[in-house]
Amino acid sequence: MASLSLHLSLLELINKNYSSLKITIMKGNEKLIVVLNSLLAEELTAINQYMVHSEMCENWGYGKLHKAIRKQAMDEMFHAKWLIERIIFLEGAPTVSKLNPMKIGKTVLEMINNDNDDELNAVKEYNEAIKLGREVQDQGSVDLFTKILKMEEGHVDWAEKQRAQVEQMGLENYLNAQTENSAS
Ligand SMILES: [Fe+2]
Ligand SMILES: [Fe+2]
Repeated sequence: MASLSLHLSLLELINKNYSSLKITIMKGNEKLIVVLNSLLAEELTAINQYMVHSEMCENWGYGKLHKAIRKQAMDEMFHAKWLIERIIFLEGAPTVSKLNPMKIGKTVLEMINNDNDDELNAVKEYNEAIKLGREVQDQGSVDLFTKILKMEEGHVDWAEKQRAQVEQMGLENYLNAQTENSAS
């Protein structure tokens, strides 16, 4: 009887240690996984918004804008892929079915302004995610957020350049320069 109870308490001890070991090694921080999934929803939304904007520009004959916006859609695809990889690595479940409301512009200027707002928001959110990653001591996630943040800053920069050009040369001249046949 004594040996049976010793055996049982040994089993309990092993189980207890194993489960705490599992939590330490395998699980990513739950709050961080929620943030990773929320960023993923934004990236998936951005991919769709940029694909629509890019195709609208193609349809209007603005080949240069079509290519530039399509390149950004591809960047966002990489961001989504990296976030999914990270969530899986942290043993969370990536949610790929959630999209946020899309902000499709009706004109080129509206598109650029909408995309600029979204990119500024992305910069803010990745900065917040970096802060959380540091708090929960997840350097791998901090590194990923930092890599994406720099690309989002590049997207903001691109949108700001377009807005500056529209302001300086006028919308007509700007759009004229966006056709494939234009010199610039
Ligand atoms: Fe992104
Ligand atoms: Fe972006």
